[in-house]
Amino acid sequence: MRLVSIDIAVVEDVWAEPFDELASRRVVAFEPDAWRNDARLRELAASARTLVVRNRTQVTRDVLATGVAAVARAGVGLDNIDLAAAAELGVSVIVPTGVNAASVAEHALGLALAVARDVVAGDGGVRAGRWDRTPGRELSGGTWGLLSAGATARATARLARAIGMRVVAYDPYVDPAHPELRELGVRLRPLTEVVAAADVLSVHLPATPETEGLVSRELLAHAKQGQILVNVGRGEVLDEDAVAEAIESGRLAGAGLDMRRTEPPTPGRIDALPGVVLTPHVAGITRQSQARIAGILCAELDVLLNGGTSAYAVTPREASA
Ligand SMILES: NC(=O)c1ccc[n+]([C@@H]2O[C@H](COP(=O)([O-])OP(=O)(O)OC[C@H]3O[C@@H](n4cnc5c(N)ncnc54)[C@H](O)[C@@H]3O)[C@@H](O)[C@H]2O)c1
Repeated sequence: MRLVSIDIAVVEDVWAEPFDELASRRVVAFEPDAWRNDARLRELAASARTLVVRNRTQVTRDVLATGVAAVARAGVGLDNIDLAAAAELGVSVIVPTGVNAASVAEHALGLALAVARDVVAGDGGVRAGRWDRTPGRELSGGTWGLLSAGATARATARLARAIGMRVVAYDPYVDPAHPELRELGVRLRPLTEVVAAADVLSVHLPATPETEGLVSRELLAHAKQGQILVNVGRGEVLDEDAVAEAIESGRLAGAGLDMRRTEPPTPGRIDALPGVVLTPHVAGITRQSQARIAGILCAELDVLLNGGTSAYAVTPREASA
């Protein structure tokens, strides 16, 4: 028989004010390093009604089979959670989809602008006593291409429109009648057309068998000359060698990469190239997005622990002790 002594086990570095309030009413275990230790993770899952994770905890079938009723994800990517097993075992997965979209969009635009205006090299130059005033590049009047038309892509489209860009997107699965796409005038086009038209191409794709390596040598052969590539989707979508080659050959002007195939990455060919701006998977992480996510997760965990169903559940099921 399962001995449940914890309402909520937080097994990664997820904490904000709403958790303080929740912890005053519920039994909450906060072990931000538990994700590193499989045995401890399974132990906590076995004695908790719900788990809170970010993206590093591997929520495997074994973890889900401990009897835990729900897993709340502080963020939106789901590739660290075995969704098939969750569905089969009746474990709710709570995901605050879209809640960090504005943060991701601001970062995507910031990366594109940093590449277009060579901000990192400029900063290094001024610090080293140089005063190089080489002209940068204006994005206004150009075309922003989106790989996906999901929540973070649409938020990026809004910002691209605000600086006077046309927006095209590739997403065969989105509803073309989505009101935000219509409002923003985003045109859905085939993949190679988007890649060929884009002055800035931003990747917002999840990692799936279909998207793995999608930004390949073959695809980049269609890229508009001087394109700026931005990745705020999953690192697996890019063939990093192909991207490095495209920068070296001048087809791409540069790249802003927030997500990498291996995180943290081992420095390689791409990391040494000028025109590449790198950030450590922080596009969605701002104080505001984290506060919103924590608020939603705490409210939804409360609903589940009270026997209700979460509106943010991917595999809905009422939590039970
Ligand atoms: N860098 C960060 O900090 C950060 C933050 C948030 C999200 N992300 C990542 O970005 C990705 C998207 O997040 P979102 O909130 O926009 O998700 P979302 O679910 O709103 O959108 C994903 C979109 O991708 C589309 N899609 C799926 N497979 C596709 C394919 N093969 N070709 C074209 N389109 C396809 C879907 O139709 C959907 O519209 C996730 O993988 C997430 O992990 C990264």
